[in-house]
Order: sequence, then structure tokens, then C-alpha cells
Amino acid sequence: MTITDTPELAASMRLGYKDYGHGEAAVRALDGVNVDIARSEFTAIMGPSGSGKSTLLHTLAGLDRLSSGESTIADTTITSLNEAQITEVRRKYIGFVFQSFNLIPSLTAKENITLPLDISGTDVDPAWFDEIIGILGLKERLTHLPAELSGGQQQRVAVARALVARPEIIFADEPSGNLDSKSGSELLSFMQSAVKDFGQTIVMVTHDPTAAAYADRILFLEDGQIVDEMREPTADKVLDRMKQMGH
Ligand SMILES: Nc1ncnc2c1ncn2[C@@H]1O[C@H](COP(=O)(O)OP(=O)(O)OP(=O)(O)O)[C@@H](O)[C@H]1O
Ligand SMILES: [Mg+2]
Repeated sequence: MTITDTPELAASMRLGYKDYGHGEAAVRALDGVNVDIARSEFTAIMGPSGSGKSTLLHTLAGLDRLSSGESTIADTTITSLNEAQITEVRRKYIGFVFQSFNLIPSLTAKENITLPLDISGTDVDPAWFDEIIGILGLKERLTHLPAELSGGQQQRVAVARALVARPEIIFADEPSGNLDSKSGSELLSFMQSAVKDFGQTIVMVTHDPTAAAYADRILFLEDGQIVDEMREPTADKVLDRMKQMGH
């Protein structure tokens, strides 16, 4: 029998441990994490400050190495690869949105968006580019430098840059953290529709119950462990759960 409806994994981690420092100063940032990230799902990671959210995001994305355990991206076990090979996997499969945007100040919005594709020598799909730019409301801003854009527009440029290459998986650390609530909800709606309409996979770290409610699934971290999971979240349900965790 062929099982056809088993969801494929965009990323996974098995018994992931991450230790920083040595001896007295040693910190266990991840403490035996098991997680599966299904394709075409929007996952939010929540938890108190210092619970290991950024560490989980960075080790899942291959930006940082686990101390022990195994993790995969698009069925490739990255934990057994060397640095050059991990860089290649990241380039091929991963898009990033950081809170600090990471835009190049001397490049226009358009040049920033296509930079990763230009670096890897991949052609930009003009129809897909136009669709993203249209939905994100950046059409009239493509020739502007980052300094000539508002914070929300800069963040949308960073999201467009992550989406334009159609990566297997987008990792976002507090993507709406620097935005006013209107720009933040526009951005999160767009990320949600990229998942629903285009099958994009997104993993997002957030402190904000309203932001987390846009996700399909929330993972709750505490002391480096996944202590709970919630599907079909609402901001109220998330807030209740966070109160239990002693926020
Ligand atoms: N480079 C590092 N060296 C030493 N300890 C680190 C390092 N990075 C993180 N840690 C420690 O690991 C733990 C988890 O950190 P992490 O940044 O993953 O937390 P977080 O959940 O993202 O917190 P926040 O919500 O404040 O961003 C913390 O105790 C932190 O102090
Ligand atoms: Mg963090």
C-alpha cells in the first residue's frame, strides 16, 4: 500500500541539545528537542525570554550547530555536513527574515529583493516577483533606498526578499517586532496567505499572542524544552497559556 497523504517534512530535529560555554558558565539552551516542521504550515515558536527560541530557530535553519542530536532540512541531514555544505543547503532551501531587516543601504528595494538570486545566478521569475510586490504594496517603492522607506516598508522588502526565491522554508525571528500594529498585521496576513495560497512553509519566533494567532500551530518552549503545542490558536487562548507559564 502506498501512503500518499503523509505530509512531507520541511525540517525536523531529533534529540537536539545546544550547550553554550563550559564548566560553571555552561548554559543548556536546547534540552532534547524533538520537532517536525510539516510543509506548507505556519509554525510560531513562543516562550519566555531565554527559553531558547532564537537558538531553536538558528539550529533548525543551519545558522548554528547543535551540540548533539540531528536535524534535517528538506530531507537532508544537515548535522553531518561540513560548513560549506550547510551554506549550500541554506542558500538552496532557506529564506530568512530578521528583526533588523539586514537590507544593504546602498542598494534599491528591488536590488535588495533580488540580491540572493543574483548572487546564486538564478533568474528572477517576473510574474512571481510582480505578484509578491503587488501584494506587499511595494510597486511604487522599488527604486528607493532603504533609508527612504518607512520601517514597515523596509520589513516588507525583507519579506519579499525571503519569498521571491520560493525557498523550501522561511525562518523569521520577531518579523513584526519593530512595526506599528497596522503594518504588523498586514505583514502577518501576507505571511499567512503565502502559506495558504502558495504552500510556503514558515517558522516564526514571536512574543506577541496576536502575531502567534496567525500561525497554524504554536510550539511553546520553556528552559530549552518544548512543553506544549497548540493548533488553531487565538490570541486569547495563547494569552491564557502564557499566563500558566508564568509570564
Ligand atoms: N552565544 C551565546 N553564548 C552563551 N549563551 C548563549 C548564547 N546565545 C544564547 N545563550 C543563552 O542560551 C539561552 C537561550 O537563548 P535564546 O537566545 O535562544 O533565547 P530566546 O528564547 O530567543 O530569548 P529572547 O526572547 O530574549 O530573544 C539563554 O540563557 C541565553 O543566555
Ligand atoms: Mg531570541
